[in-house]
Amino acid sequence: MKILQITSSARRDASHSTRLASHIVQRLRNADPEATFTVRDLNLTPHPVIDEIALGALFTPAEQRTPEQAARVALDDALITEIQAADVVVLGVPMYNFGVPASLKNWIDAISRVGVTFRYTEKGPEGLLKGKKVYVALTRGGKYRNSPADTQVPYLKTVFNFLGLTHISLVYAEGLAMGADAEQTAIASAYEQIDEALAA
Ligand SMILES: Cc1cc2nc3c(=O)[nH]c(=O)nc-3n(C[C@H](O)[C@H](O)[C@H](O)COP(=O)(O)O)c2cc1C
Repeated sequence: MKILQITSSARRDASHSTRLASHIVQRLRNADPEATFTVRDLNLTPHPVIDEIALGALFTPAEQRTPEQAARVALDDALITEIQAADVVVLGVPMYNFGVPASLKNWIDAISRVGVTFRYTEKGPEGLLKGKKVYVALTRGGKYRNSPADTQVPYLKTVFNFLGLTHISLVYAEGLAMGADAEQTAIASAYEQIDEALAA
């Protein structure tokens, strides 16, 4: 089994989402000591936004790319290769201003490539990242689960399903900014949700 952990919190040691995602990874590794493990920390290695240069590079045939264009495409290629190789993807995802961190959006933009991770057929779009399990550890200062203010979960489900990532388990730690008791309750609940997700 190959595990890929995606870290998107801007915080390092204090990050709840990273800690929860790391716990999921540790549990998976305990269950399968042979498992290999890669971490992609999107703050340690920030991925560039899509801009006109990136689009120009992506839409230029490989053999016609300048060295600069080839280098830009290679950055995305590296992330695509990583997720293609993974059997399990574990993401730590804080809520930032009701959405996902920009670093995670850049990662999603990089791995979403027509003809590679999805394609269009006569029947519509088809995701090409099939057969993988995805765990998402979501952390929030407030409580937004199942409310219209939660733009993260509908977005992540939509884009992941589009890419063929359909086996998704969500773990929520909410109310982390609502006092010490609420924080403790949220974290305890998240660990219970992890138990349930791993048992499923
Ligand atoms: C820039 C920023 C924006 C945030 N926006 C929200 C928000 O919109 N809603 C919310 O519930 N919490 C928000 N929070 C709180 C974080 O979601 C919370 O602190 C969470 O634990 C961060 O994840 P981490 O512990 O992995 O760093 C925000 C925090 C930061 C730093």
